[in-house]
Amino acid sequence: MPIQVPLKVFRYRPGSTPHYQSFVVTVPEDANVIDAIEAVWAQHDRSFAFRHACHHASCGTCAVRLNGYEKLPCIVPVREALAERSELLIEPLRNFPLVMDLVVDMAGFFQKQEASGLKITRPAEPTLNGQPYQRIGLLDASNRLEDRPYNRFENCIECGICISACPTMAATDKFLGPAPLAGIHRAIQGSDPARKSALLALADDEQGVWRCHSAWECTESCPQSVNPAEAIMALRRELIKRKVRRLFGLNGR
Ligand code: SF4
Ligand code: FES
Repeated sequence: MPIQVPLKVFRYRPGSTPHYQSFVVTVPEDANVIDAIEAVWAQHDRSFAFRHACHHASCGTCAVRLNGYEKLPCIVPVREALAERSELLIEPLRNFPLVMDLVVDMAGFFQKQEASGLKITRPAEPTLNGQPYQRIGLLDASNRLEDRPYNRFENCIECGICISACPTMAATDKFLGPAPLAGIHRAIQGSDPARKSALLALADDEQGVWRCHSAWECTESCPQSVNPAEAIMALRRELIKRKVRRLFGLNGR
């Protein structure tokens, strides 16, 4: 049976003043919050901007702040989100440049992610039937299809939720951030000594692990259990161990 869902959504256009707008949408009673967000677009305002793709917590594109907390709305039932509330509050992620309505600019975040150099080469992974994955054609800088492996961070779906939840990111966007540091921690596992040292130098940068205030909000909010805070603590332990070994003339590499 369809239900009526009141929502208050954040609205923004470049050059205009950000504000909130209320709507009531009709969705199936088992709908998730992304369905209610999409219904704003479908039933009220075709200029309403939001992002989504997979609808099952795989792509990370739909991340928003729901009732004040970072969530993937594609996996939160409307009934659960509305419990004891008169309306849903939907806002864009914090600590990213705003583009429009619920859409933020992820480019800087993706560049930091890339800095960790972590690459998982899909063709090397076996599939259920034992056949390798096909190589995926990507567009190169000249818009030509090139044949190169599909890179991704293990577990991390690059949703940006940890960046939004992080109080240090709120103070400075220069901070490398939880997900990129978790990427570095993952990338140093099994790396050769030279590469490991280069990655640890990046983590040791003034915008690296020492900027973290240990709030653990990233780990608390991450929908994929990546546990970036623990990765940051592990990087700190590794860096301290190396510094102590160097101090006492021991080989820390
Ligand atoms: S570490 Fe978790 S919260 Fe951060 S981008 Fe990756 S999946 Fe999202
Ligand atoms: S739509 Fe892909 S994670 Fe929500």
